Amino acid sequence: MDLGIDLGTTHTVVASVDRGNYPVMSFQDEDGDSHDHIPSLTALVDGQMVHGFAAAAAMVAGRPGIRSVKRALANPAVTFATPVHIGDTAVPIGELLTSYLRHVIDQIHLNGADGELRVVVGVPAHAHTGQRFVTIEAFKAAGFTVLGMVNEPSAAGLEYSLRQSRTLNSRRTRVIIYDLGGGTFDASLVDMSGTSGEVIDSVGLNDLGGDDFDRVLADLVTPRITAEVPPRDSLLEACRLAKEGIRSQSRNALVDLPDETVRIPVAEFEQACHPLVDRSLSVMEPLSKLLQSDPAKSDVAGIDMVGGSTSLPLVPRLVRELFGRRVHRSPNPTASTAIGLAIAADPTSPHSIRDRLSRGFGVFRETNWGQELAFDVLADQNLRLDSPTTITRRYQSRHNIGVYRFVEFSRTDADGTPRGDLSPFAEIVVPLDEGLQRSGAPIDKAQVHPVDQGHWVEETYTIDSSGMVGAAITDLDTGWSVSTTMGRDRPVILPPSARRVPVPPAG
Ligand SMILES: Nc1ncnc2c1ncn2[C@@H]1O[C@H](COP(=O)(O)OP(=O)(O)OP(=O)(O)O)[C@@H](O)[C@H]1O
Ligand SMILES: [Mg+2]
Repeated sequence: MDLGIDLGTTHTVVASVDRGNYPVMSFQDEDGDSHDHIPSLTALVDGQMVHGFAAAAAMVAGRPGIRSVKRALANPAVTFATPVHIGDTAVPIGELLTSYLRHVIDQIHLNGADGELRVVVGVPAHAHTGQRFVTIEAFKAAGFTVLGMVNEPSAAGLEYSLRQSRTLNSRRTRVIIYDLGGGTFDASLVDMSGTSGEVIDSVGLNDLGGDDFDRVLADLVTPRITAEVPPRDSLLEACRLAKEGIRSQSRNALVDLPDETVRIPVAEFEQACHPLVDRSLSVMEPLSKLLQSDPAKSDVAGIDMVGGSTSLPLVPRLVRELFGRRVHRSPNPTASTAIGLAIAADPTSPHSIRDRLSRGFGVFRETNWGQELAFDVLADQNLRLDSPTTITRRYQSRHNIGVYRFVEFSRTDADGTPRGDLSPFAEIVVPLDEGLQRSGAPIDKAQVHPVDQGHWVEETYTIDSSGMVGAAITDLDTGWSVSTTMGRDRPVILPPSARRVPVPPAG
């Protein structure tokens, strides 16, 4: 069976491919009620991990649990082994995710699916390579066949193109997807001429979502509690439920705690949340400039709002204040990403989307241990991902040891220099000296010195269609090679015999 799975910060949503339809699976909670999601939660009960609705129930009963694992995944330094904590117990994040996804498989089987489960997986558009790597590996380890990985807002764009094609016409073919979920915010400008879409640009924040609204409410509630303050997790859960109960006519949010119900005026809550929505609006400014210009001239058909947090009335209200009637809310804001992923998994669907890397990567070449530092952009956020890309550089080294520090960044300026959050994601140290290579001893930074007529070096980078980056640095004179998939624990050192490459003529 072919599936799209949106592993969200708060909800895991599964849509299947069924002869041109993409039904969203429903899952039963502990009381037998149906939901179109599994809560993305894990708890510990008697030393065993339990997941989903069972974890939600265990956490309500006071057992230790973990919410928002996806936020920990967004750490640029994440690897399969990065520990996360459930109460006092540390668990490698990769193992936790794998165990959670096995639970998802069991639930899918309860839905009547059998045979191979082939899946297209979503990730936030601005996910670092480490997050992509750990996510794909965990899906595979759990037993899924991974068909591909698609950026979440691009999947939402696919779903939009299926649902809303009538708002698009030959003149207005572009849509901005505004996706505010539980833990992340993404906005993408998507061009939808015909049935094949293309992501033109995308921006986002890995640390803005419904969880933050819950915290704002918890901070308003805490000073008003007269009985004992419940543990933070139960308080946040109560706040989430109260927040989800707010309708456009609501005057108060009622936060139900074990010993009392705390009433918070919606106006006060909304005022406190205003800065959160403003953050989303300011980060999408590069895209929304296109909309603010003369509507008659703009080729942007509108803004499509998806993600559960757009159900909070404040959010569409503030977005409409800026952009007016071209703002549309999705009828099923929490499922549109999963439906889009299922469309991507359907080989017979005429709808497709071409993605971009959404973030760039480059290298600091530090051959003189800090005295000489040059930055080289290897790929920027606009790189198209319709087929794997290989970048190769060859040069003669001026040092006996090469030090390469790779970073990811979200955007480059007009002049091509990276701006904003640079995050390191790998360091490779390569001996470019036969003696050092042979000895295999750890390299001491004090050993670096300039050389005349250094070895020839080849750097090769491959970016696959899910946005994962592999790097290999090869000493062409000796065949010594070091390669790594960014986001894996450490670079792999290959013995010289493992990879021999022809030596180019000197000069
Ligand atoms: N009616 C509602 N009013 C306000 N917020 C809501 C409502 N329904 C759901 N939410 C919030 O939406 C968020 C979940 O949205 P969604 O399922 O789109 O996120 P996700 O996919 O799990 O997360 P992400 O995409 O950030 O990884 C939660 O914070 C939830 O509380
Ligand atoms: Mg989501």
